[in-house]
Amino acid sequence: MYKVIVFDVYGTMFDVNSISNYLEQYDAEHAQEIANLWRKTQLHHAALRQVMQRYIRYDEVTKNALRYALDVYEVKHSREDINKLFDGYLHLDYFKEIPKSFVELKNKNLELAILSNGNDNMLRTLVDNSAISEHIDAIMSVDEVKQYKPSPASYALVLKYYQVKRSEILFVSSNTWDVNGAANFGFDTAWVNRNNEIFDENGASPTITVNNLNELVKWLEMRK
Ligand code: LAC
Repeated sequence: MYKVIVFDVYGTMFDVNSISNYLEQYDAEHAQEIANLWRKTQLHHAALRQVMQRYIRYDEVTKNALRYALDVYEVKHSREDINKLFDGYLHLDYFKEIPKSFVELKNKNLELAILSNGNDNMLRTLVDNSAISEHIDAIMSVDEVKQYKPSPASYALVLKYYQVKRSEILFVSSNTWDVNGAANFGFDTAWVNRNNEIFDENGASPTITVNNLNELVKWLEMRK
């Protein structure tokens, strides 16, 4: 029986594609492509920094990645523009089924927590700006250990917050690298496959694959 459900943030609870609305005014034609490159570079930089053991906070990683994506598309940008666009990360849309499914999970007496590569400020502001903050019991940022997911040390943070067995945690992510990392650490995992993608197995497979969090709630009901 699970006691704690731990969620990844970007792409899992909040839609990083909603950032393209912010980019529209800079390059309407390529807004979505820039958003994609921004996200791809952000993930790549964090992974490389983890390998290099050169940690910097995720807001800095995110801004560096944004500068690169804008440069690639030859969009001129000032420091103010970078801050303005970064602000989009603090106002991402959450996926629409989240409030209802979080209420249902809370009704099952489950602890609901977040573990993200985002630093505290990013996460708190994002959650506070959304209507779902009341459902979240703990916000854990890897900034506390300065090791990015998918390093084992980052997932170990969960066991510092919650004195439960590893098997009592379910880790939920839409990011396949994150599912691989959490499973590698020894957590059961749920992969949220919102866009009918193929799981790029890299050492582990998810315990369960769902299309959204409503399906996750149903799966948990069935396991009882
Ligand atoms: C997170 C990103 C990386 O940790 O998805 O929330």
